[in-house]
Amino acid sequence: MPQEIIQQAVDLLQSGKLIGLPTETVYGLGADARNPEAIAKIFLAKERPFTHPLIVHLASFDQVKDWAISVPPEAEKLAQAFWPGPLTLILKKRPEVSELLTGGQDTIGLRVPAHPVALAVLQEFKSGIAAPSANRFSRISPTTANAVREELGSKVDLVLEGGTCDIGIESTILDLSRAQPTILRPGMITRAEVEQIIQKPVSYSREDAPRVSGMDHVHYAPETSLVMIATHDLPKFIEQQTELPIAVITTHKPLFQREGIEWIVMSGEPHPFAHELYITLRELDKQGFKKIIIEEVPQTDAWLGICDRISRGAAKL
Ligand code: TXA
Ligand code: MG
Repeated sequence: MPQEIIQQAVDLLQSGKLIGLPTETVYGLGADARNPEAIAKIFLAKERPFTHPLIVHLASFDQVKDWAISVPPEAEKLAQAFWPGPLTLILKKRPEVSELLTGGQDTIGLRVPAHPVALAVLQEFKSGIAAPSANRFSRISPTTANAVREELGSKVDLVLEGGTCDIGIESTILDLSRAQPTILRPGMITRAEVEQIIQKPVSYSREDAPRVSGMDHVHYAPETSLVMIATHDLPKFIEQQTELPIAVITTHKPLFQREGIEWIVMSGEPHPFAHELYITLRELDKQGFKKIIIEEVPQTDAWLGICDRISRGAAKL
């Protein structure tokens, strides 16, 4: 990416504007995290309720102390192991950090993203960039620059081109501000990987659902009805469909060929599956299917983030 474009992005951030920022998980809608007016623009552009906190992106672990009032040793260990990368840490915020960023809470979400374009902008900007996923509220996160333009159009002042996001679903969110480390949103960094680094048990919580926007009942949803069906029930369920065409996402071979049924065969490995998931749903959503059926994915730790996003999209039914 040419240095002039990075500089242009930094200039826009400094003048309170919004940019589309590629990260390794999904594209973010970025603003200067120290500028309340710029932060407010994010909520308006996304049509997101002000109670839903944003993640602040940093260039390196050294900046964490500028935002968090205390930095537990677990945070440092995890940063060493996973940053830059798809892990967001929730820590107690410093008093001067705007409550607009944190949805009125006393904690802040922080992450160093691994995408070279995001890192180049962050290094030049030298401060935090608040960036939720660059979709309208309750829609699928964008994983290409084009998808950001589709979602937000002229509401974003510049979209940086960063190719297709490597990971493809949002970061794992780990709350280190409580007595026990707790995963608030599963992702491709798993509970077992976190436990191995901090040598402590990690719990998994959905209980404080309203505090985390990704925990809303309907989230990550395409427009087309989405349903996840167990492998065993799949043939019967497909037979029962009277409204065609439908799309069926599977990690196996198509069961049969029939008019009005489009089979999409995805990888049976979690990383390539996550990488393709939102791109596939976004494409299928444009094609006028009456329903998108996803064959159930494994219920293992490695698939938990994927399973979570599919079931939230499916909750729309
Ligand atoms: O991978 C990602 O995390 C992407 C990229 C752009 O970094 N960002 C992202 O942002 O997914 P967003 O706003 O779509 O989701 C951030 C999640 C929300 O569910 C929000 O509620 C939660 O992080 N969050 C942020 N700060 C929090 C806090 N202080 N306490 C609890 N949850 C928090
Ligand atoms: Mg989001």
